[in-house]
Amino acid sequence: MINKEKFLRIVKQSKTPLYIFDKKEAQKNIRSFKNAFKKYGVDLSIFFATKSNYYPGLLRTVVSEGENIDVSSRRELKLALKAGSKRIIYTGPAKTRDDFELILKHHSKVTVNLESLRELELMAKMAREKKVTMRCGVRIYTKMQSGWTKFGIPLSDLKGFYDQAQKYKYINFCGVHFHISFNKTPDKYLKTLDELSKYFKKHFRVEERLDFEYIDIGGGFYPETSEGIYPWNPNQETHIPDFDKHIKHMLADKFKPRYLPIKVDPIDVFAEKISAVYKNTILPLLPNVHLYAEPGRFISHSTMHFLLTIMDVKDKNLAITDGGTNMVGWEKHQFFYYVPLINLSQFDLKREIPFVLYGSLCTPDDIWGYYMFTKGLPKSGDIILMPYQGAYTYTLAQEFIKEIPEVWEME
Ligand SMILES: Cc1ncc(COP(=O)(O)O)c(C=O)c1O
Repeated sequence: MINKEKFLRIVKQSKTPLYIFDKKEAQKNIRSFKNAFKKYGVDLSIFFATKSNYYPGLLRTVVSEGENIDVSSRRELKLALKAGSKRIIYTGPAKTRDDFELILKHHSKVTVNLESLRELELMAKMAREKKVTMRCGVRIYTKMQSGWTKFGIPLSDLKGFYDQAQKYKYINFCGVHFHISFNKTPDKYLKTLDELSKYFKKHFRVEERLDFEYIDIGGGFYPETSEGIYPWNPNQETHIPDFDKHIKHMLADKFKPRYLPIKVDPIDVFAEKISAVYKNTILPLLPNVHLYAEPGRFISHSTMHFLLTIMDVKDKNLAITDGGTNMVGWEKHQFFYYVPLINLSQFDLKREIPFVLYGSLCTPDDIWGYYMFTKGLPKSGDIILMPYQGAYTYTLAQEFIKEIPEVWEME
């Protein structure tokens, strides 16, 4: 439920454009993810994927909820350490000597998901020189990760990788990781876990299996969002021929429905099915493992909202706001996603009108959306809310023409 007064109070104290950080949403999402698995008897550890939103207040919230952080670079590792995270997963391809320097410095907190034999050998050599034991696993891919083969090793190489890791005194090799993005159902997790269990059964001896301490199923849990897909661009193409024609059609309100909802299984369904496969096929083989996950979008999507002010009304159905879409980087709202635009100054959630809302960048592609909830015609000075914009927006924001706006923490 939108609390209009809360947002309007912020505008009295600060200038727009603003990102609003909503800690309560972060807590809600972390708890619902965690509790969904708990309900089915699995004590899953969350490693929040920093890449989806690195805002320090969000990282601190993850830590204060007793959860952990997933990082993919030295920059993100420093952010996780600063947020006070005691358990960090470092995942990401092509790790360098400098990456391992920082990882080894924080070896008591970090577990590394390795991506190649080169990484294993380099890390083992550096760990031996420093005489510190490094906890690690490897990222694997199966048919389920098609298109993602630049990451990790094929599952068929896992036993060879394990054997190699046993040769190094300072390597504690104890985990397996995989990741697939944009999952609207649990299907790919289930199939990957199933393949993994068959592989372990066939290729690992019972005592070798005891070495494994974690299975990290990555991120990719799609939230049940308030976003939708435009019916005139169902495949989310980046180039739209005849775009002017579409706009005319839209303003005449001829697209019905105005957006197509994205169908997603609730987290309870993911948790129920993944927990069942994990308990029935993985745990009997690998009795020492814990289940890890790296949700990004699921946790961060509703933790940020945007506040903008209408500067110039150019027409009865066209206006420009003070903020531009450099606030969301290259994730283009104008073609990809319907997101509700809510006029807080003329608040009416029952009346949505066709209306093109532009940002203030020097490009006609700088569009926030094509419909607005508003009581009357939008006016200069009206405050516009774009709710639930926390995933892969703030983190992709660019200093293109304008600076990146500030973040305001909502009480
Ligand atoms: C290894 C890894 N883990 C976690 C994530 C987070 O994914 P999502 O935000 O879709 O949950 C990603 C995203 O690409 C990733 O590459």
